[in-house]
Amino acid sequence: MANVVVVGAQWGDEGKGKIVDWLSEQADVVVRFQGGHNAGHTLVIGGKVYKLSLLPSGVVRPGKLSVIGNGVVLDPHALASEVERLSEQGVSITRDNLRVAENATLILSIHRELDALRESGSAGTKIGTTKRGIGPAYEDKAGRRAIRLMDLADLASLRDKIDRLLTHHNALRRGFGLDEFSPEAIYEELASVAPKVLPYMDAVWRLLDEERRAGKRILFEGAQGALLDVDHGTYPFVTSSNTVAGQAATGSGLGPGAVGYVLGIAKAYTTRVGEGPFPTELFDETGELIGQKGKEFGVVTGRKRRCGWFDATLVRQTVRTSGIDGIALTKLDILDGFETIKIGVGYKLDGQTIDYFPASQGAQGRVEPIYEEMEGWSGSTAGARSWADLPAQAIKYVRRVEELIGAPVAVLSTSPERDDTILMKNPFEG
Ligand code: IMO
Ligand code: MG
Repeated sequence: MANVVVVGAQWGDEGKGKIVDWLSEQADVVVRFQGGHNAGHTLVIGGKVYKLSLLPSGVVRPGKLSVIGNGVVLDPHALASEVERLSEQGVSITRDNLRVAENATLILSIHRELDALRESGSAGTKIGTTKRGIGPAYEDKAGRRAIRLMDLADLASLRDKIDRLLTHHNALRRGFGLDEFSPEAIYEELASVAPKVLPYMDAVWRLLDEERRAGKRILFEGAQGALLDVDHGTYPFVTSSNTVAGQAATGSGLGPGAVGYVLGIAKAYTTRVGEGPFPTELFDETGELIGQKGKEFGVVTGRKRRCGWFDATLVRQTVRTSGIDGIALTKLDILDGFETIKIGVGYKLDGQTIDYFPASQGAQGRVEPIYEEMEGWSGSTAGARSWADLPAQAIKYVRRVEELIGAPVAVLSTSPERDDTILMKNPFEG
């Protein structure tokens, strides 16, 4: 039995939450390994909607252990309020079903402020971030001055760590002509939230190692998508973590052998929130229609998502950078009723045809998609629970996608509801 990693194969919002929730029935442990509360994962179970940002999507299933790994940047206030919000919805979260890595980096209010400041355009390139402080927190982690969860358990030495952090941040603040941060205020901010998050703290690498040795099944839940990866994505219009499947090991403290089957999640079309290149983006009424039918508004920020046709060139590339074994194709029903459907199969770049997405920002902005056009279908795929329920032309579309991206469709999702899912190949069977 393989452990499974679920990663986004596009620019995020592929429907990872639903697939993780659905797969978690077969898992014992669900692990987040990167990103933070910039993620927005929506689960619909029996008509009830749960929105998660930081907590692993396994948390709604009783008896599953949810783990937030060291690769996540953790806003302790966001954790406390998400736990509270879910408990109001009847989901009980205690140390029995949630553990958070002691060495996870904390997101502080100073990170949120800096993120917002840069996005205001007065200090740096506008990326269209979620303004959750994700980037600045990862910067401090790499800069070796971050405050980590375990530091909240040692308040006596916290002040020194805050001073070190502020040496850097207050120099920046002075440069921007802003007031300096007070160490006292940050100490208070952290000391007051500590009792709400410390109960979940654990040495996650050890816990996961034990679980693994005991033969438990681990499901790794990626956030964002491979095209937002800080190395492999559309840099600089990316998030600040590695979102590819390889990060599942580093971000949880297990070796690469712990990661078995890689399930990439891809929408049957493409969306993106925030700035950055998007070759198959539609600016016409077709794009509007996809956005309306697909309810393409951000879970975290409420922003309208940009919409376009499925770009097979991009997904083929992420199949490789993430080592994707199979795809869960989501939201196929949004394409129901289109007379014709286009798929991006390659690009034109400066008069040449290429079959990959170039790495440079300039070239990424200049490529023009080459389309293949397919006949649509008039029947409905919404809510289909077996292959036989699908219109023949919809099956043809799925088969063509498989061919173009070089990976099989293992799972097909036909609505946001947990059970509206068709399984072709069980990822846990490797
Ligand atoms: P889920 O897990 C879609 C995008 C932001 C912005 C860029 C950087 O729901 O798929 P950040 O706040 O991370 O520094 O923003 O990344 N972004 C996402 N887009 N889905 C997400 O998560 C995203 N998380 C970040 O819009 O363009
Ligand atoms: Mg999202």
